[in-house]
Amino acid sequence: MKFELAEWSSKIEVGLPEIDAQHRQLFELAATFAGDGEQIRVLKSLAMLTEYVKVHLREEEEMMAACRYPGLEAHKRLHAEFRRMLFDLLENAKQMTLDEIAEAVKFLINGWFYNHILIADFAYVPSVRAASDLPRQPD
Ligand SMILES: [Fe+2]
Ligand SMILES: [Fe+2]
Repeated sequence: MKFELAEWSSKIEVGLPEIDAQHRQLFELAATFAGDGEQIRVLKSLAMLTEYVKVHLREEEEMMAACRYPGLEAHKRLHAEFRRMLFDLLENAKQMTLDEIAEAVKFLINGWFYNHILIADFAYVPSVRAASDLPRQPD
C-alpha cells in the first residue's frame, strides 16, 4: 500500500483533547527516529512507540465501545492490522539498518496512522460527541 507521508498538523485534530494529545505524542515519538542513533537506543524507542500505540488503540476502542459506536468492529480490525505491522517491525528490527527502521516507522506513523486518523478516527467523532452530550441512559 502506498500513502502520502505527512507530518502531524491541525488537519488531523479530531477535536477530542485526550485523543489528539495521544495522536500528537505518537508523531513526536516517530520523529525521533530520523537521523543518526545507536541501534540499542533505536530499538528501545521502537519498543516504547509500540507500547504507546497499544495504549492508544486500547483506549480508543474502549471509548468507542462506551459510546456504542456502530463501526467498532471494523475499526478494531484496522487497529489489529496496525498492531501486527508494528510487532512485525519490532521483531525484525534487530536485522535492519537504522535507516530501514526509520523508513518503516515513517511509513507506519506518517503514512498508515496519519491516514487512519483522517478516515477512520474522524468517523467515530459524531458518535462520541452524541454520547457525551446526552445524559447517561440506564441500561
Ligand atoms: Fe487514533
Ligand atoms: Fe483508530
